[in-house]
Amino acid sequence: MSPWRTVEAMEAGRETTGMMKVDSLASISEAEDLDLTRLLDRPRLRIERKSSFDERSFSDHLVPGILQAVDSHDSMMTLGGIKSALDSPASWAQNSFEPHPMVAEAWDALQRSIVLFRGQPVGTIAAYDHASEEVLNYDQVFVRDFVPSALAFLMNGEPEIVKNFLMKTVYLQGWEKRVDRFKLGQGVMPASFKVTHDPKRKTDNLVADFGESAIGRVAPVDSGFWWIILLRAYTKSTGDLTLAESTDCQRGMRLILALCLSEGFDTFPTLLCADGCSMVDRRLGVYGYPIEIQALFFMTLRCALSMLKQDAEGKEFIERIVKRLHALSYHMRSYFWLDFQQLNVIYRYKTEEYSHTAVNKFNVIPDSIPDWIFDFMPTRGGYFIGNVSPARMDFRWFALGNCIAILSSLATPEQASAIMDLLEERWEELVGEMPLKIAYPALESHEWRIVTGCDPKNTRWSYHNGGSWPVLLWLFTAACIKTGRPQIARRAIDLAESRLSKDGWPEYYDGKLGRYIGKQARKFQTWSISGYLVAKMLLEDPSHLGMISLEEDKAMKPPIKRSSSWSA
Ligand code: GLC
Repeated sequence: MSPWRTVEAMEAGRETTGMMKVDSLASISEAEDLDLTRLLDRPRLRIERKSSFDERSFSDHLVPGILQAVDSHDSMMTLGGIKSALDSPASWAQNSFEPHPMVAEAWDALQRSIVLFRGQPVGTIAAYDHASEEVLNYDQVFVRDFVPSALAFLMNGEPEIVKNFLMKTVYLQGWEKRVDRFKLGQGVMPASFKVTHDPKRKTDNLVADFGESAIGRVAPVDSGFWWIILLRAYTKSTGDLTLAESTDCQRGMRLILALCLSEGFDTFPTLLCADGCSMVDRRLGVYGYPIEIQALFFMTLRCALSMLKQDAEGKEFIERIVKRLHALSYHMRSYFWLDFQQLNVIYRYKTEEYSHTAVNKFNVIPDSIPDWIFDFMPTRGGYFIGNVSPARMDFRWFALGNCIAILSSLATPEQASAIMDLLEERWEELVGEMPLKIAYPALESHEWRIVTGCDPKNTRWSYHNGGSWPVLLWLFTAACIKTGRPQIARRAIDLAESRLSKDGWPEYYDGKLGRYIGKQARKFQTWSISGYLVAKMLLEDPSHLGMISLEEDKAMKPPIKRSSSWSA
């Protein structure tokens, strides 16, 4: 008997779910987020409870002196992004009033994926693929996979399951975690959990995986980040501050932060990781400082800043976060950013420079620049590259990290527009026939052998190695709306609508253009389903964006203007 208990339909009248959208409950209006600098006048480290949920400027908490070097900077990104999105009736009209038939189908499938624990919905199963014989761990609730499901439920006015999920996972965080004889950090959140049913005792139990059962035995660095991001989304959507302010959630946040803010031998503010510690959960040469983790880290710090209480323990973390955010944004915007101009600078780099005057700080050898990048880089556009560490720049494009950079405002407004320009200019490569390419380009031949360790699942243009993942559609749509280009999201959604349901909601597609259903792709992959729903709901009502987007903090300036700083 399957230990899994799912519900066929949660509520009567579920057929109408496609149209069951309720107004966003966001208690904190989008407009409130927009000028973070207004908060500068508030007394430092003393923000009233109600306002504790605004996106406070780092400078609210700043240790005097830190911001002094920062000039004023006029943002190109005002309400413009969202306003212009709202003002383009042509783009909305097509999908506003008549839901696509796939929407109702997606809601039904999402409902079927709900997992109950002692009668309460606590998450969604990764894939509900009856046809597949190989279940592996797709019968579990993955923390990262649940995020788009959670957003769909929140946008639909069903916050209960999200609250239960947040509470269950923070409870699991408290478990003692071991890999062989080694004890993992207290703050580690599970990659996934499962509900098992004990028929004798007639009760449900939880089993969690913190990496000790995962392929490669890597702890999921992204789980804790997603948990904090989701806690903010829940709070923002419902206006219910009690969950984020509860002792359990405050402790949960601090434990996660303690892991990633700890002092060590680091010389960079970025977070050092092993391969396979996030969505790309197999070896793919993303060890070091992968963009996905750095962008999520940045977003997490900003979300935590808005939710941590100003008590003795909270204050200490707030101060650390503020310092880290300044260093992290400087580092990312300076060293991870690549556009035509910067590529030309790197191409002409001198090597073996020593001391503080070095331009090529990481001693990247220009010969290591891959050929493809010279053709790929458009004159207009740019992006955060995959990884930067000593003598190493991974020039690959990773969609998730770049979308999160836009949503968290790690990308300056100019950088956010440049990322969108790149997506438009390189549509065929990065979107192709099925949105969205997880990474570009694929590793092939010798490089694939060396970098993936001959991974048969990650062959070229398949799975993580240049495959196309429909789940990324929600992140892409959110980024499009934030940058005022909803029509691009519409184009991508049209592509997805032409195939996703017909193909049985696959986990991923293969091929240069993403034309083939992935070799080992699960069908009815929940996050492909919920990702589509979230994308649709975001387009329909862009005010949902506030749940997963943070406006620019004007106190955090880009270090120097690119044109003047790099062409020396
Ligand atoms: C695969 C993906 C991972 C996802 C899991 C469950 O392992 O790489 O990101 O969380 O499947 O869908």
